[in-house]
Amino acid sequence: MTTTVKIGHSDVVSGPLGLGTNKVGGHNLFKALDDQTGIQTVKAALDHGITMLDTAFMYGLGNSENLIGQAIADYDRHQIVIATKAAQDPDRELKPNNQPAFLTRQVDNALERLGTDYIDIFYIHFPDQDTPKYEAVGALERLKEAGKIRAIGVSNFSLEQLKEANQDGYVDIVEDAYNLIDRQAADTLMPYLQQHGISFVPYFPLASGLLTGKYRADQVFSADSWQAGKPNFQGARFAAITAALTDTVKPIADHHQATAAQVILAWYIQDPAIAVVIPGARTPEQATQNAGALDVTLSVDEVKQISEAFKRLPA
Ligand SMILES: NC(=O)c1ccc[n+]([C@@H]2O[C@H](COP(=O)([O-])OP(=O)(O)OC[C@H]3O[C@@H](n4cnc5c(N)ncnc54)[C@H](OP(=O)(O)O)[C@@H]3O)[C@@H](O)[C@H]2O)c1
Repeated sequence: MTTTVKIGHSDVVSGPLGLGTNKVGGHNLFKALDDQTGIQTVKAALDHGITMLDTAFMYGLGNSENLIGQAIADYDRHQIVIATKAAQDPDRELKPNNQPAFLTRQVDNALERLGTDYIDIFYIHFPDQDTPKYEAVGALERLKEAGKIRAIGVSNFSLEQLKEANQDGYVDIVEDAYNLIDRQAADTLMPYLQQHGISFVPYFPLASGLLTGKYRADQVFSADSWQAGKPNFQGARFAAITAALTDTVKPIADHHQATAAQVILAWYIQDPAIAVVIPGARTPEQATQNAGALDVTLSVDEVKQISEAFKRLPA
């Protein structure tokens, strides 16, 4: 199993497993979060071998970065890879802003909230409509030269926007939606990334918890639940996903004395097209369990079985 991964053309090196932290302090996005639990979740992840923390200004409008700053205060900063993102502009009702001056200010603000003097990976979280993407990335290159950030990322960019952003070859890493049940990025982005030595980090690796196997096939979601109206949680598609988890993933998990979530995460870790997988966690227990994926090595046949089980799902 891969033990370390180099990020793009930068000198950042990470382990293959990170922690997604939109539920660490992201009160504006999710209900019923507790800040102390968030801090404990980050510590549990670091205590169990997770090395990358993936955060963003948008997660709690700075709160997630603040909590991470508190959580890592007693850890060796150099053993941790901090990835953060910005673009949503509080002065533009949180619409994306990629202007160089704005991004530069956001990096300084993030450094202060995180209580650190460098950010390992800084992503432009979303593209805006008007800033030339090579100018936005050019500003990040200057921050890299100044030592404030170590690697340059973009997130939620189309292939065309990515090509424009990477005009001078400065992009090190891309973060985009990708998981076993939605592999579009494999066709749209990955060929360009591989050609240009750019790393890839998929978000929603657990399909927002669905791929942990914790939902029953006969589960009914109420109209006011967050799952309501989400295609993955409805009808024939939901039935096919839960069946694949029961029929294919569970026996493999049992064989490895692992959980379904650990097996699913191990499936990403073995894939050389994926740099770091960053499952989110709401609690220290989830983060600890997910870290156990580092101990699961799937056989070639198991990887194939899992890949096939989630292909051709009903729309
Ligand atoms: N760049 C972007 O635009 C973007 C967009 C989205 C996300 N992200 C990043 O990607 C990360 C991953 O995405 P995500 O967190 O939204 O989705 P995810 O990783 O697919 O799912 C995470 C959720 O699954 C549940 N879960 C995790 N481990 C579990 C376990 N062992 N047992 C049971 N349930 C478990 C938790 O939610 P519950 O307990 O509530 O079920 C957790 O919050 C985020 O945290 C964020 O850092 C980036």
